Amino acid sequence: MTATIRMTVNGKPVVLDINPDEMLADVLRERLGLLGTKIGCREGECGACTVLLEGQPVVSCLLPALKANDRSVVTVEGLGPPQDPHPVQEKMALMGASQCGYCSPGFVMSAAALLDENASPSVEEIKEAITGNLCRCTGYAKIILAIREAARAKSH
Ligand code: FES
Ligand code: FES
Repeated sequence: MTATIRMTVNGKPVVLDINPDEMLADVLRERLGLLGTKIGCREGECGACTVLLEGQPVVSCLLPALKANDRSVVTVEGLGPPQDPHPVQEKMALMGASQCGYCSPGFVMSAAALLDENASPSVEEIKEAITGNLCRCTGYAKIILAIREAARAKSH
């Protein structure tokens, strides 16, 4: 049995026939080839699969894709092309906040959502926004700094 899903993904309308139990992360990666969304734990613990659903960060490994029906999804590919990256992407790269990079798309999506709602977040607010994202490589100091710098860059 399949189900038809209609979504807007990175600004483009998409219609797909999927299995009703498919998770959004798998639909994005396997059916749409959007491999920037990573899968780490599949348990909602690591945040590597974070995407925006109607502008809000969600862990797409646990979200049945059908819940995104008639809704808008943004993945890391939709934030900015390599030649014009989102300020969070730019500052994370510049400040060494990404090492193996596996966690980075998830952090970028959580941070982008934060900056859309709060142009000048405090360190505490940044920590709160990325509380669902885990990084094994960097420690979090550089990531937090990069998000602060991105907020500054975005507001100028
Ligand atoms: S893969 Fe989704 S939270 Fe870890
Ligand atoms: S940069 Fe490797 S897990 Fe975060």
